[in-house]
Amino acid sequence: MLLTVVCVQLIWGLVGLRESVAQNATGKDEWWRDTFIYQVYTRSFKDSNGDGVGDLNGITSKLEHLVDLGVSAVWLSPIYASPMVDFGYDISNFTAIDPIFGTIDDFTRLIARAKALKLKVVLDFVPNHSSDTHPWFVKSVQRVKPFDEYYVWKDARIVNGTRKPPNNWLSQFQGSAWEWNDQRKQYYYHQFTARQPDFNYSSTALQEEMKNVLRFWLNRGVDGFRIGAINYLIEDSHFLDEPKSSSASFLPATDPNSLKHNYTVDRDQNYDILQAWRRVLDSTNGTRKVIMTEAYTTPYFTMKFHQHGSNIPFNFNLIRNIKLSSGALGCKGVIDGYLNELPSGALPNWVVGNHDNRRTGSRLNSRWIDQINMIAAVLPGVAIIYNGDEIGMIDRPMAWNETLDPAGINAGPLNYKFKSRDSARTPFQWDNSTSAGFSSNKKTWLPVNSNYKTVNLAIQKTQPYSHYSLMKKLISLKKNPILRNGTTETTIVHYAYLAIVRRLQNQSPVVLLINVHKTLVRYDIAAFINAPDKMTVYAANSWANISVGAQVDMTNFGIDGYGAVILI
Ligand code: BGC
Ligand code: MG
Repeated sequence: MLLTVVCVQLIWGLVGLRESVAQNATGKDEWWRDTFIYQVYTRSFKDSNGDGVGDLNGITSKLEHLVDLGVSAVWLSPIYASPMVDFGYDISNFTAIDPIFGTIDDFTRLIARAKALKLKVVLDFVPNHSSDTHPWFVKSVQRVKPFDEYYVWKDARIVNGTRKPPNNWLSQFQGSAWEWNDQRKQYYYHQFTARQPDFNYSSTALQEEMKNVLRFWLNRGVDGFRIGAINYLIEDSHFLDEPKSSSASFLPATDPNSLKHNYTVDRDQNYDILQAWRRVLDSTNGTRKVIMTEAYTTPYFTMKFHQHGSNIPFNFNLIRNIKLSSGALGCKGVIDGYLNELPSGALPNWVVGNHDNRRTGSRLNSRWIDQINMIAAVLPGVAIIYNGDEIGMIDRPMAWNETLDPAGINAGPLNYKFKSRDSARTPFQWDNSTSAGFSSNKKTWLPVNSNYKTVNLAIQKTQPYSHYSLMKKLISLKKNPILRNGTTETTIVHYAYLAIVRRLQNQSPVVLLINVHKTLVRYDIAAFINAPDKMTVYAANSWANISVGAQVDMTNFGIDGYGAVILI
């Protein structure tokens, strides 16, 4: 077992080396290295025209907030024409701006302003499917060439005289992944809602169309793409039933987790398609273009993206695998596990939040908000944060009749709370004015969290130990040479402290200490982690009860329960 692990790592190591040398000899032009990247959920960031939905002019008006924070890039969730069934992830025109977000001129102004502020702009690329209102799908239904083959069509199975879907494949959003089309007299395949038909990547014409989409936005000055749902692009051509998973017996038969997705997820050819897109980006002039890929999958398939053109194959470990019960030992396991799996030379990344997952303060609890941010900052590589993470926004629970997300609606009134993503998508809390300063409209597309009077950016700017003040320090710390080039050790100190130590030869280390206990505990940490006897507090969360700038005696170190400090 160990031997296989070593061998696999060796092979990955070699492949990784060759690829990174071929792409870029120094890594110097990789502007995203050792930075924070900031996700804007377009509908919820800033509404400029009072319709209750965020828009491009709203984003442009707030770019300075991102400059204040110090992030390198802003990634925009979809801005394209869409019926908004999946809130922009169902696209009816890949090269047009949805009127609710503005116009192409607004986009041009956004890019110009970002460039002036030295901020990179990354767009969401949604290549797995389109909206069923996309003209390509309409023509596909009519069997117009070459569109007839742009989507995945199959004949019905007739069982005892009745029409059945071609196989048992299930949608990520519950129920059969097949929808009957009465005009074409065939079923089409959809990994997400029935209003999001999947593309058929064996069509070379479709492949070309999607490359042209990339070129269209590259020509308009974008610095890269976040590629969504990339592990769903290809389906096995035999269309066999998928086997039941081990959780099948306690899940409804409509739940996608009741199947093992042997034929629909993580197919090898997904990686070939990604490489073709990489070549499109690399043949564009100007600054180097970043590719971030979204795939909720195993370490093996995640790491494989590194060798196939993704610079940032999202690492969801902080979101998915750190639990309240993890303790210092569990956290260490999650962090080391990821770092050990990384191909040699590959850049680590840490996703703190996004529009598909519960926010840290609600998934874990409010004591963990800063701690997760600090972990992502101190560990090597890129951190990816979601709008609101910098002020510790938490989920706003939704009633069934407030639910808009199809993932929630399809799960029904009993289960929607486990599937809906609405709670993490509420408007950004700028200040304590109407609709938290997000919109002049009292009614916003999702309700504003009622905690906005106390949790908002304006207040936190005035508080030295707020989530915001801490986040600013974390983002600037990323640029520290010890963090950029130093070694990484994760250590558990007497089960009470998780220590992350970053070290460069002949220099005093940078140390993150998190007290995972409820109460103050004191130890000789200096000896334990080989740190200097005296260190200075660079940053601290409010639980630590310790002042930034204070000198700390590391031979008798102690902070209050749930405290976290970064020492230099
Ligand atoms: C997005 C989700 C979306 C899914 C299907 C993902 O990339 O992050 O919000 O529901 O794609 O379009
Ligand atoms: Mg608006």
